[in-house]
Amino acid sequence: MAIDIDSIRDDYPILKRKVNGQPLVYLDNAATSQKPQVVIDSIIDYYSNYNANIHRGVHTLSQEATRAYEQARKKIQLHFNANHPHEIIFTSGATHGINLVASGFTGRLNQEDEIMVSEMEHHSNIVPWQMLCEKTGATLRVLPMNEDGTLNMEAYEDLLSDRTKLVFVNHVSNALGTINPIGEIIQKAHGVDAAVLIDGAQACSHIKPDLLQLDVDFYVTSAHKMGGPTGVGMLYGKDKWLNELPPYQGGGEMIKEVTFERTTYADLPHKFEAGTPNISGGIAFGVAIDHLNSIGFKNIEEYENELLEYATEKLLEIEDLTIYGPSKNKTSVISFNIEGLHPYDVGTIIDQMGIAVRTGHHCAQPIMDFYKIPGTIRASFSFYNTFEEIDSLVEALRKAIKMLT
Ligand code: ALA
Repeated sequence: MAIDIDSIRDDYPILKRKVNGQPLVYLDNAATSQKPQVVIDSIIDYYSNYNANIHRGVHTLSQEATRAYEQARKKIQLHFNANHPHEIIFTSGATHGINLVASGFTGRLNQEDEIMVSEMEHHSNIVPWQMLCEKTGATLRVLPMNEDGTLNMEAYEDLLSDRTKLVFVNHVSNALGTINPIGEIIQKAHGVDAAVLIDGAQACSHIKPDLLQLDVDFYVTSAHKMGGPTGVGMLYGKDKWLNELPPYQGGGEMIKEVTFERTTYADLPHKFEAGTPNISGGIAFGVAIDHLNSIGFKNIEEYENELLEYATEKLLEIEDLTIYGPSKNKTSVISFNIEGLHPYDVGTIIDQMGIAVRTGHHCAQPIMDFYKIPGTIRASFSFYNTFEEIDSLVEALRKAIKMLT
Protein backbone atom coordinates (compact mmCIF):
# COMPACT_ATOMS: atom_id res chain seq x y z
CA MET A 1 0.00 0.00 0.00
CA ALA A 2 1.38 3.39 -0.93
CA ILE A 3 0.44 6.59 0.88
CA ASP A 4 -3.01 7.87 -0.13
CA ILE A 5 -2.18 11.47 0.58
CA ASP A 6 -5.68 12.92 0.00
CA SER A 7 -7.31 10.48 2.35
CA ILE A 8 -4.59 10.97 4.97
CA ARG A 9 -4.93 14.75 4.81
CA ASP A 10 -8.69 14.38 5.27
CA ASP A 11 -7.99 12.78 8.66
CA TYR A 12 -6.33 15.99 9.92
CA PRO A 13 -8.88 18.80 10.38
CA ILE A 14 -6.25 21.50 10.99
CA LEU A 15 -4.78 21.00 7.52
CA LYS A 16 -7.92 22.59 6.06
CA ARG A 17 -7.39 25.94 7.77
CA LYS A 18 -5.90 29.11 6.42
CA VAL A 19 -3.19 31.11 8.14
CA ASN A 20 -2.81 34.77 7.25
CA GLY A 21 -5.24 34.25 4.39
CA GLN A 22 -3.15 31.43 2.87
CA PRO A 23 -3.61 27.66 3.06
CA LEU A 24 -1.62 26.37 6.05
CA VAL A 25 1.65 24.68 5.07
CA TYR A 26 2.68 23.03 8.32
CA LEU A 27 6.38 22.18 8.25
CA ASP A 28 7.07 22.26 11.99
CA ASN A 29 6.40 18.60 12.65
CA ALA A 30 9.59 18.16 14.65
CA ALA A 31 8.22 20.61 17.23
CA THR A 32 4.88 18.86 17.39
CA SER A 33 2.78 16.83 15.01
CA GLN A 34 -0.79 17.66 14.04
CA LYS A 35 -3.55 15.44 15.41
CA PRO A 36 -5.79 13.14 13.39
CA GLN A 37 -9.54 13.26 14.01
CA VAL A 38 -9.50 9.80 15.71
CA VAL A 39 -7.18 11.15 18.41
CA ILE A 40 -9.32 14.25 18.94
CA ASP A 41 -12.45 12.07 19.04
CA SER A 42 -10.97 9.73 21.64
CA ILE A 43 -10.37 12.67 24.00
CA ILE A 44 -13.92 13.96 23.47
CA ASP A 45 -15.28 10.43 23.98
CA TYR A 46 -13.43 10.01 27.28
CA TYR A 47 -14.69 13.30 28.73
CA SER A 48 -18.20 12.89 27.28
CA ASN A 49 -18.80 9.27 28.21
CA TYR A 50 -16.50 7.71 30.81
CA ASN A 51 -14.52 10.41 32.61
CA ALA A 52 -13.49 8.96 36.00
CA ASN A 53 -10.34 8.44 38.01
CA ILE A 54 -8.51 5.19 37.31
CA HIS A 55 -7.36 2.31 39.55
CA ARG A 56 -9.45 3.76 42.38
CA GLY A 57 -13.12 3.14 41.82
CA VAL A 58 -15.42 0.16 41.98
CA HIS A 59 -17.95 2.00 39.88
CA THR A 60 -18.51 1.38 36.17
CA LEU A 61 -17.03 4.60 34.85
CA SER A 62 -13.81 4.11 36.79
CA GLN A 63 -13.52 0.56 35.56
CA GLU A 64 -14.10 1.60 31.97
CA ALA A 65 -11.48 4.35 32.23
CA THR A 66 -9.00 1.99 33.92
CA ARG A 67 -9.51 -0.60 31.22
CA ALA A 68 -8.98 1.90 28.41
CA TYR A 69 -5.86 3.34 30.08
CA GLU A 70 -4.31 -0.08 30.71
CA GLN A 71 -5.20 -1.18 27.17
CA ALA A 72 -3.26 1.85 25.91
CA ARG A 73 -0.26 0.74 28.00
CA LYS A 74 -0.51 -2.73 26.47
CA LYS A 75 -0.71 -1.20 22.98
CA ILE A 76 2.43 0.84 23.66
CA GLN A 77 4.23 -2.26 24.99
CA LEU A 78 3.37 -4.25 21.86
CA HIS A 79 4.19 -1.38 19.51
CA PHE A 80 7.68 -0.92 20.98
CA ASN A 81 8.17 -4.64 21.58
CA ALA A 82 8.87 -4.51 25.30
CA ASN A 83 8.76 -7.66 27.39
CA HIS A 84 6.07 -6.56 29.87
CA PRO A 85 3.38 -3.86 30.13
CA HIS A 86 4.79 -2.89 33.55
CA GLU A 87 8.01 -1.78 31.82
CA ILE A 88 6.00 1.04 30.23
CA ILE A 89 5.71 4.02 32.59
CA PHE A 90 3.33 6.80 31.55
CA THR A 91 5.05 10.16 31.87
CA SER A 92 4.22 13.71 30.88
CA GLY A 93 6.70 13.39 27.99
CA ALA A 94 10.28 12.50 27.12
CA THR A 95 11.72 15.19 29.41
CA HIS A 96 9.87 13.75 32.40
CA GLY A 97 11.18 10.26 31.61
CA ILE A 98 14.79 11.49 31.43
CA ASN A 99 14.49 13.38 34.71
CA LEU A 100 12.95 10.32 36.36
CA VAL A 101 15.93 8.16 35.40
CA ALA A 102 18.46 10.88 36.28
CA SER A 103 16.90 11.27 39.72
CA GLY A 104 16.93 7.49 40.20
CA PHE A 105 20.68 7.34 39.65
CA THR A 106 21.52 9.98 42.28
CA GLY A 107 22.45 7.42 44.91
CA ARG A 108 24.27 5.16 42.47
CA LEU A 109 27.09 7.37 41.18
CA ASN A 110 30.19 8.84 42.77
CA GLN A 111 33.26 10.94 41.86
CA GLU A 112 34.97 8.00 40.18
CA ASP A 113 32.14 7.60 37.67
CA GLU A 114 31.62 9.04 34.23
CA ILE A 115 28.43 9.52 32.26
CA MET A 116 28.27 10.41 28.58
CA VAL A 117 25.99 12.52 26.40
CA SER A 118 26.41 13.26 22.73
CA GLU A 119 27.10 16.70 21.35
CA MET A 120 23.92 16.33 19.34
CA GLU A 121 21.45 16.23 22.21
CA HIS A 122 18.37 18.30 22.92
CA HIS A 123 18.81 20.31 26.13
CA SER A 124 16.45 17.89 27.86
CA ASN A 125 19.04 15.14 27.40
CA ILE A 126 21.90 17.33 28.68
CA VAL A 127 20.68 19.42 31.60
CA PRO A 128 19.28 16.60 33.81
CA TRP A 129 22.64 14.78 33.50
CA GLN A 130 24.57 17.94 34.38
CA MET A 131 22.35 18.25 37.43
CA LEU A 132 23.06 14.60 38.27
CA CYS A 133 26.82 15.27 38.01
CA GLU A 134 26.50 18.27 40.33
CA LYS A 135 24.75 16.08 42.91
CA THR A 136 27.05 13.07 42.69
CA GLY A 137 30.47 14.42 41.63
CA ALA A 138 30.43 12.20 38.52
CA THR A 139 32.05 13.58 35.35
CA LEU A 140 30.10 14.39 32.19
CA ARG A 141 31.85 13.31 28.99
CA VAL A 142 30.75 14.48 25.55
CA LEU A 143 30.62 12.20 22.53
CA PRO A 144 31.53 14.58 19.68
CA MET A 145 29.82 14.98 16.33
CA ASN A 146 31.18 15.26 12.79
CA GLU A 147 30.65 18.03 10.24
CA ASP A 148 28.03 15.95 8.38
CA GLY A 149 25.88 15.75 11.51
CA THR A 150 26.79 12.18 12.44
CA LEU A 151 28.34 11.01 15.70
CA ASN A 152 32.07 10.37 15.87
CA MET A 153 31.99 6.68 16.62
CA GLU A 154 35.78 6.36 16.86
CA ALA A 155 35.79 8.94 19.62
CA TYR A 156 32.96 6.98 21.28
CA GLU A 157 35.11 3.88 21.56
CA ASP A 158 37.95 5.96 23.03
CA LEU A 159 35.66 7.61 25.57
CA LEU A 160 34.11 4.39 26.84
CA SER A 161 35.88 2.85 29.81
CA ASP A 162 35.10 0.91 32.94
CA ARG A 163 34.39 4.26 34.58
CA THR A 164 31.46 4.88 32.18
CA LYS A 165 28.21 4.14 33.98
CA LEU A 166 25.58 5.68 31.70
CA VAL A 167 25.33 6.80 28.07
CA PHE A 168 22.61 9.10 26.69
CA VAL A 169 22.01 9.60 22.99
CA ASN A 170 19.03 10.62 20.93
CA HIS A 171 17.69 8.14 18.42
CA VAL A 172 17.13 11.01 15.96
CA SER A 173 18.49 14.54 16.29
CA ASN A 174 15.65 17.05 16.59
CA ALA A 175 17.74 19.82 15.03
CA LEU A 176 19.33 17.91 12.14
CA GLY A 177 17.24 14.77 11.64
CA THR A 178 20.28 12.44 11.83
CA ILE A 179 19.39 8.84 12.71
CA ASN A 180 22.04 7.69 15.16
CA PRO A 181 23.47 4.14 15.21
CA ILE A 182 21.85 3.33 18.52
CA GLY A 183 22.23 -0.45 18.17
CA GLU A 184 26.00 -0.09 18.02
CA ILE A 185 26.02 2.55 20.77
CA ILE A 186 24.07 0.25 23.10
CA GLN A 187 26.14 -2.82 22.32
CA LYS A 188 29.44 -1.01 22.92
CA ALA A 189 28.21 0.58 26.14
CA HIS A 190 27.14 -2.83 27.42
CA GLY A 191 30.66 -4.02 26.66
CA VAL A 192 31.87 -1.84 29.57
CA ASP A 193 28.74 -2.49 31.67
CA ALA A 194 27.30 0.98 31.13
CA ALA A 195 23.53 1.44 30.88
CA VAL A 196 22.03 3.37 27.97
CA LEU A 197 19.10 5.75 27.76
CA ILE A 198 17.86 6.61 24.28
CA ASP A 199 15.79 9.75 23.73
CA GLY A 200 13.32 8.70 21.07
CA ALA A 201 11.21 11.88 21.07
CA GLN A 202 12.18 12.74 17.52
CA ALA A 203 12.28 9.22 16.16
CA CYS A 204 8.98 7.54 16.91
CA SER A 205 6.83 9.27 14.31
CA HIS A 206 9.22 8.01 11.63
CA ILE A 207 10.63 4.75 12.97
CA LYS A 208 9.20 1.84 14.98
CA PRO A 209 11.94 0.88 17.44
CA ASP A 210 12.21 -2.74 18.57
CA LEU A 211 13.28 -2.32 22.19
CA LEU A 212 13.90 -5.99 22.86
CA GLN A 213 16.12 -6.34 19.84
CA LEU A 214 17.97 -3.13 20.72
CA ASP A 215 18.49 -4.44 24.26
CA VAL A 216 18.27 -0.83 25.44
CA ASP A 217 18.05 -0.10 29.17
CA PHE A 218 15.79 2.97 28.96
CA TYR A 219 13.93 4.58 26.06
CA VAL A 220 11.77 7.69 26.29
CA THR A 221 9.37 9.35 23.92
CA SER A 222 6.53 11.90 23.76
CA ALA A 223 3.07 11.25 22.33
CA HIS A 224 2.66 14.72 20.88
CA LYS A 225 5.26 14.14 18.17
CA MET A 226 3.40 10.97 17.13
CA GLY A 227 -0.03 12.46 16.50
CA GLY A 228 -1.02 12.15 20.16
CA PRO A 229 -1.75 14.91 22.66
CA THR A 230 0.78 17.02 24.55
CA GLY A 231 1.47 16.24 28.20
CA VAL A 232 1.86 12.48 27.86
CA GLY A 233 4.70 10.16 26.93
CA MET A 234 6.37 6.97 27.99
CA LEU A 235 9.48 5.78 29.71
CA TYR A 236 10.47 2.23 28.91
CA GLY A 237 12.88 0.64 31.37
CA LYS A 238 14.01 -2.96 31.67
CA ASP A 239 12.18 -4.28 34.70
CA LYS A 240 15.50 -5.07 36.39
CA TRP A 241 16.30 -1.33 36.31
CA LEU A 242 12.83 -0.09 37.20
CA ASN A 243 12.77 -2.41 40.21
CA GLU A 244 16.16 -1.15 41.37
CA LEU A 245 15.57 2.59 40.94
CA PRO A 246 13.75 4.48 43.71
CA PRO A 247 10.46 6.27 42.97
CA TYR A 248 10.74 9.72 41.43
CA GLN A 249 7.72 11.32 43.08
CA GLY A 250 5.81 10.40 46.20
CA GLY A 251 2.04 10.53 46.28
CA GLY A 252 -1.15 8.59 45.82
CA GLU A 253 -1.26 5.45 43.69
CA MET A 254 2.49 4.71 44.01
CA ILE A 255 2.26 3.10 47.45
CA LYS A 256 1.42 -0.26 48.96
CA GLU A 257 1.02 0.92 52.55
CA VAL A 258 1.51 4.25 54.28
CA THR A 259 2.03 4.79 57.99
CA PHE A 260 3.87 7.66 59.64
CA GLU A 261 6.70 5.25 60.45
CA ARG A 262 7.17 3.79 57.00
CA THR A 263 5.78 3.65 53.47
CA THR A 264 6.13 0.74 51.10
CA TYR A 265 5.89 1.24 47.39
CA ALA A 266 3.56 -0.21 44.81
CA ASP A 267 4.75 -2.66 42.19
CA LEU A 268 5.65 -1.53 38.69
CA PRO A 269 4.47 0.45 36.85
CA HIS A 270 2.57 2.26 39.62
CA LYS A 271 5.69 2.92 41.70
CA PHE A 272 6.59 5.60 39.16
CA GLU A 273 3.09 6.93 38.53
CA ALA A 274 2.21 9.09 41.54
CA GLY A 275 -0.95 11.18 41.34
CA THR A 276 -3.82 11.22 38.90
CA PRO A 277 -2.30 10.89 35.44
CA ASN A 278 -3.28 12.38 32.11
CA ILE A 279 -5.92 9.69 31.57
CA SER A 280 -7.43 10.89 28.30
CA GLY A 281 -3.88 11.60 27.08
CA GLY A 282 -2.71 8.04 27.77
CA ILE A 283 -5.75 6.62 25.98
CA ALA A 284 -5.26 9.00 23.05
CA PHE A 285 -1.56 8.02 22.87
CA GLY A 286 -2.72 4.46 22.16
CA VAL A 287 -5.10 5.73 19.48
CA ALA A 288 -2.29 7.76 17.87
CA ILE A 289 -0.12 4.63 17.72
CA ASP A 290 -2.96 2.71 16.05
CA HIS A 291 -3.31 5.53 13.54
CA LEU A 292 0.40 5.47 12.64
CA ASN A 293 0.31 1.69 12.30
CA SER A 294 -2.75 1.90 10.06
CA ILE A 295 -0.67 3.97 7.64
CA GLY A 296 2.33 1.71 8.20
CA PHE A 297 5.88 2.68 9.13
CA LYS A 298 7.30 1.31 5.91
CA ASN A 299 4.96 3.56 3.91
CA ILE A 300 5.73 6.50 6.18
CA GLU A 301 9.47 6.02 5.79
CA GLU A 302 9.33 5.63 2.01
CA TYR A 303 7.11 8.66 1.47
CA GLU A 304 8.97 10.91 3.90
CA ASN A 305 12.28 9.96 2.27
CA GLU A 306 10.87 11.07 -1.08
CA LEU A 307 9.77 14.36 0.47
CA LEU A 308 13.20 14.80 2.04
CA GLU A 309 15.02 14.12 -1.20
CA TYR A 310 12.78 16.47 -3.19
CA ALA A 311 12.99 19.26 -0.60
CA THR A 312 16.78 18.94 -0.31
CA GLU A 313 17.17 19.21 -4.08
CA LYS A 314 14.80 22.20 -4.38
CA LEU A 315 16.27 24.07 -1.43
CA LEU A 316 19.81 23.65 -2.71
CA GLU A 317 18.76 25.41 -5.92
CA ILE A 318 18.47 28.59 -3.82
CA GLU A 319 21.70 30.54 -3.96
CA ASP A 320 23.76 30.79 -0.75
CA LEU A 321 21.59 28.29 1.11
CA THR A 322 23.47 25.93 3.44
CA ILE A 323 21.99 22.73 4.85
CA TYR A 324 23.45 21.61 8.18
CA GLY A 325 24.07 17.96 8.96
CA PRO A 326 23.53 16.53 5.48
CA SER A 327 24.09 12.93 6.63
CA LYS A 328 22.69 10.17 4.41
CA ASN A 329 20.87 8.48 7.24
CA LYS A 330 18.31 11.01 8.38
CA THR A 331 14.61 11.59 8.86
CA SER A 332 12.66 14.30 7.06
CA VAL A 333 14.18 17.33 8.79
CA ILE A 334 16.16 20.04 7.00
CA SER A 335 17.99 22.69 9.01
CA PHE A 336 19.35 25.48 6.87
CA ASN A 337 20.40 29.11 6.61
CA ILE A 338 20.52 31.62 3.81
CA GLU A 339 23.67 33.69 3.90
CA GLY A 340 23.18 37.19 5.27
CA LEU A 341 19.63 36.55 6.51
CA HIS A 342 18.56 35.98 10.10
CA PRO A 343 16.49 32.79 10.52
CA TYR A 344 13.93 34.65 12.62
CA ASP A 345 13.30 37.25 9.88
CA VAL A 346 12.87 34.57 7.25
CA GLY A 347 10.52 32.56 9.50
CA THR A 348 8.40 35.62 10.25
CA ILE A 349 8.03 36.57 6.59
CA ILE A 350 7.12 33.09 5.36
CA ASP A 351 4.57 32.79 8.18
CA GLN A 352 2.75 35.67 6.45
CA MET A 353 2.49 33.30 3.49
CA GLY A 354 0.95 30.53 5.63
CA ILE A 355 4.15 28.53 6.09
CA ALA A 356 5.06 27.26 9.55
CA VAL A 357 8.72 26.39 10.21
CA ARG A 358 10.77 26.62 13.40
CA THR A 359 13.64 29.07 13.67
CA GLY A 360 16.32 29.37 16.36
CA HIS A 361 18.56 26.93 18.20
CA HIS A 362 15.89 24.22 18.52
CA CYS A 363 16.84 23.58 22.18
CA ALA A 364 20.17 22.20 20.92
CA GLN A 365 22.65 25.03 21.47
CA PRO A 366 25.75 22.77 21.39
CA ILE A 367 24.90 21.87 17.77
CA MET A 368 24.65 25.56 16.89
CA ASP A 369 28.01 26.16 18.62
CA PHE A 370 29.50 23.29 16.62
CA TYR A 371 28.48 24.96 13.34
CA LYS A 372 29.25 28.44 14.78
CA ILE A 373 25.79 29.79 14.00
CA PRO A 374 23.13 31.37 16.23
CA GLY A 375 20.36 29.20 14.82
CA THR A 376 18.76 27.75 11.72
CA ILE A 377 15.50 27.65 9.81
CA ARG A 378 14.15 24.14 10.28
CA ALA A 379 11.60 22.59 7.94
CA SER A 380 10.39 19.23 9.20
CA PHE A 381 8.07 17.08 7.10
CA SER A 382 5.45 14.51 7.96
CA PHE A 383 3.67 11.90 5.87
CA TYR A 384 0.72 14.33 5.52
CA ASN A 385 2.86 16.93 3.75
CA THR A 386 2.91 17.17 -0.04
CA PHE A 387 5.41 17.95 -2.77
CA GLU A 388 3.31 21.03 -3.61
CA GLU A 389 3.86 22.28 -0.06
CA ILE A 390 7.60 22.00 -0.59
CA ASP A 391 7.21 24.08 -3.76
CA SER A 392 5.29 26.66 -1.69
CA LEU A 393 8.13 26.74 0.86
CA VAL A 394 10.73 27.31 -1.85
CA GLU A 395 8.64 30.03 -3.51
CA ALA A 396 8.06 31.74 -0.15
CA LEU A 397 11.79 31.63 0.63
CA ARG A 398 12.60 33.24 -2.73
CA LYS A 399 10.10 36.03 -1.95
CA ALA A 400 11.57 36.46 1.55
CA ILE A 401 15.08 36.77 0.08
CA LYS A 402 13.86 39.51 -2.28
CA MET A 403 12.22 41.39 0.57
CA LEU A 404 15.20 41.15 2.90
CA THR A 405 18.03 41.93 0.48
N1 ALA B 1 11.90 19.48 20.82
C1 ALA B 1 10.98 20.19 19.98
C2 ALA B 1 11.64 20.72 18.75
O1 ALA B 1 12.61 20.17 18.31
C3 ALA B 1 10.18 21.18 20.69
O2 ALA B 1 11.17 21.67 18.18
